Amino acid sequence: MEKEPIFLDRNENNYGPAPACYEALRSAGVEQMSWYSKDFSRGVKSALSERLARDYGVPESIVLLGYGGEDLLKQTVHCYLAKGDTIMIPTHSWWYYKAIAAEKGGFTVEYPMLPGPESFIYDVEGLLRLARQHGPRVVLISSPNNPTGNTLDPADLRRVLHELVGSVVVLDEAYWGFGGVSTNYVKDLINDFPNLIIIRTFSKYFAMAGLRIGYAFMGRGLTQLSQFSARYLGYNRLSENVALAALDSPDYYAGISARMIEDKEMLYREINRLPGFKAYRSSANFILADIPPAQKEALKADLTQRGLIIKFFKNEPFMDYCIRITIGTREQNQALASALAAFAAEKGIL
Ligand SMILES: Cc1ncc(COP(=O)(O)O)c(C=O)c1O
Repeated sequence: MEKEPIFLDRNENNYGPAPACYEALRSAGVEQMSWYSKDFSRGVKSALSERLARDYGVPESIVLLGYGGEDLLKQTVHCYLAKGDTIMIPTHSWWYYKAIAAEKGGFTVEYPMLPGPESFIYDVEGLLRLARQHGPRVVLISSPNNPTGNTLDPADLRRVLHELVGSVVVLDEAYWGFGGVSTNYVKDLINDFPNLIIIRTFSKYFAMAGLRIGYAFMGRGLTQLSQFSARYLGYNRLSENVALAALDSPDYYAGISARMIEDKEMLYREINRLPGFKAYRSSANFILADIPPAQKEALKADLTQRGLIIKFFKNEPFMDYCIRITIGTREQNQALASALAAFAAEKGIL
């Protein structure tokens, strides 16, 4: 039988969820599978939104739930962006932002994100200049950003939010957790900025991409979204139970995340050793690296033949000669580092 390739291309968490999550699935009963939730009649969305509200010290009414971060992003844009309205997104960002904007006939303006010596950097001045020029209805900020891996510094974020009072500001934190699990800033930001929504997911840090569950905290000015998003019949009760088990397993997640951070360091070192390659620092579970343009096709073929699938970009001017590597399990990361070194040696570029 052919060996299954190692997928390091979609920023999934290959360690899988905590043991308690499997237990939650094994012990699922008829109420989670056959019955609707009755939480709506209690005036809340679900046990999960209540739990998140408690953990973050915010009212349950400002916690939104959805079918992954994707769903919540889509709901927000669909709720606020009308045909011809401007939406601003970072220039190197998740391709899907543009697709969502296009669904509503939005006008997309890309604001600059610059490659620094170590990592990519948000160009705050550039963002604010374009915002003054275009008066956007929605501004998307992603931190850590996909595919560049950099974050927006908290002081810069506040500066941006102070200026963008006339826009709906979406802070996509899908990759929250890998650079630290601090949560206390959420309450302050949401209290201070009624036009802000912070979108998170159980897909990445909590390794539950297949269960499709996302959550968000919204400022009190976004009541239209809260109505748009409300679901009388509830959410996926099975997924929610697994998510609750994940929240009860912080040690497991801290353990796998610490390994991923060590492996990210190892990959930086190994990649930056190779002439023509340059890895950028990242606070997420992936790293972006420049590769020698002439080697792109050969590298792709070589890794595929070794059963290693990573992300190569196409039709994205700056990214055409970049790779994005998802941090997998220790064994997978070592296999990738060895494969890159072997490739460089074979090509005589080491
Ligand atoms: C930047 C970013 N935001 C949001 C998502 C959505 O993830 P999910 O819908 O699984 O929560 C992704 C998925 O890869 C992503 O890269």
